[in-house]
Amino acid sequence: MRTRTEERDPADRTGADLVVRGGTVVDSAWEGPADVLVRDGVVAALLAPGAPVDADVPAVDAAGRLVLPGGVDPHCHVGFTSGAYTSLDDHRECTTAAVFGGTTTIVDFAIPRPGQRPLDVARSQRAGIPTGLCDAALHGCVVEWDDTTADQLRVLADEGVRTIKMFTTYRGESMADEATILRVMHALRGLDGMVVVHCEADHIVVDAQDRAAGTGGIGAREMPATRPELAETASVGEVLAIAESQQTPVYFVHQSTAAAVELVAAARRRGLRAYTEAVAHHLLLDESAYAGPQPERFVCCPPLRPRESVDALARHLFTGEITTIGSDHCCYDTNQKREHRHDVRRMPNGLPGVETRLATLFSEFVVGRGLPLTRFVELTAANPARTNGLYPRKGSLMPGADADLALWDPGLTWTVTAAELHQATDYTPYEGRRVTGRPTTVIVGGRVVVDEGRLVDGTARGRYVPAGEIPADPMVLPL
Ligand code: URP
Ligand code: ZN
Ligand code: ZN
Repeated sequence: MRTRTEERDPADRTGADLVVRGGTVVDSAWEGPADVLVRDGVVAALLAPGAPVDADVPAVDAAGRLVLPGGVDPHCHVGFTSGAYTSLDDHRECTTAAVFGGTTTIVDFAIPRPGQRPLDVARSQRAGIPTGLCDAALHGCVVEWDDTTADQLRVLADEGVRTIKMFTTYRGESMADEATILRVMHALRGLDGMVVVHCEADHIVVDAQDRAAGTGGIGAREMPATRPELAETASVGEVLAIAESQQTPVYFVHQSTAAAVELVAAARRRGLRAYTEAVAHHLLLDESAYAGPQPERFVCCPPLRPRESVDALARHLFTGEITTIGSDHCCYDTNQKREHRHDVRRMPNGLPGVETRLATLFSEFVVGRGLPLTRFVELTAANPARTNGLYPRKGSLMPGADADLALWDPGLTWTVTAAELHQATDYTPYEGRRVTGRPTTVIVGGRVVVDEGRLVDGTARGRYVPAGEIPADPMVLPL
């Protein structure tokens, strides 16, 4: 916990920044009526509803609202360059969209282009964070191993970058071979870090692409056939074996099939610290989108899957086998997506989603399918913070946590439309979707930034949040 709160008695209700009154607080392990007292930008205390507080402390009325820790998005690409395309947002634009959507911490990526050094890219990506409306952490990335890599990983860990992204696909761009994955895992053992990995076996993908190109086409409409589920499970099996050989933790990003999730769950039962991230679009959308009028808008890797695969994946929200849910936000616009829509090998992959992640999931799974609120907070805030070494500063409302809060109207039904979102693009994959539940007031570091859906404080206050050690088991609550 942070020293600022230790200097004062937390029960001291004078001199606070604000008090959030009358709401139902939902943390990952507890929910109930409470008032939230904020001092010096952190949660000072959870008070009995209506507990006396100095009259001059500003009050935010949360009656009828849920009070959640601001979301932590563990997978968010800001201004991401891949191939010929760069996604269109900067930190300010991305975090503005994030905050409107109830997310108050993003974890961005520093992915080297060919010839760049991971450490340099991390430092330069970090430089944009202070322009943001909320805080951000960073994943590093290693593509190739050379004699400087071990030292760079040490410096990265010292500078708070402890999660290292690796890819088993995108040859010639960001793909790393198995020997490199093993070396990075080995190097991270002593640094309390973790590899986070995009698994699709590139040889299976390339073969599927070649066959698609040779038979009917390789356009956006054919996307599912070009990246089969088998490519994902094959690669997950290989990477799990490498992690087991090194006995190091491993986190799989955007797992899109139940079979892949179950491989990770089985490894966990064997004692490996292995974690599954799902992303919102794989839980909410299916491959029928590629048969629609604008299939290019849905091109992402792994692709959207058949409805039965989506449902099987979503069941693991309830079994507990999915650890976190991210957005895999990539802010390309329709022009970028259309340019090479007849050849997915040349298209920018990825969907915008940092702003819609929480509300679309809340509506579908909490309102629609009875996912407990505490589990929703666990998946979208607490566990992303834990697996990124940010907990309990982020993803929690317990005293000592940063006062990042999202006040939700759980009964508000609204229609998602790009025209009313803040993402720096002209479309959303959820256009026209009816959704129930929405964050209406969002507090960042104790300051109201969005109030009843309006931006009321646009001050740039993004802080870089260095990852602490990834604990031996991040799922176990620190005392
Ligand atoms: O299609 C995707 N997911 N694009 C973003 C880069 C990545 O693979 O995460
Ligand atoms: Zn990926
Ligand atoms: Zn991604």
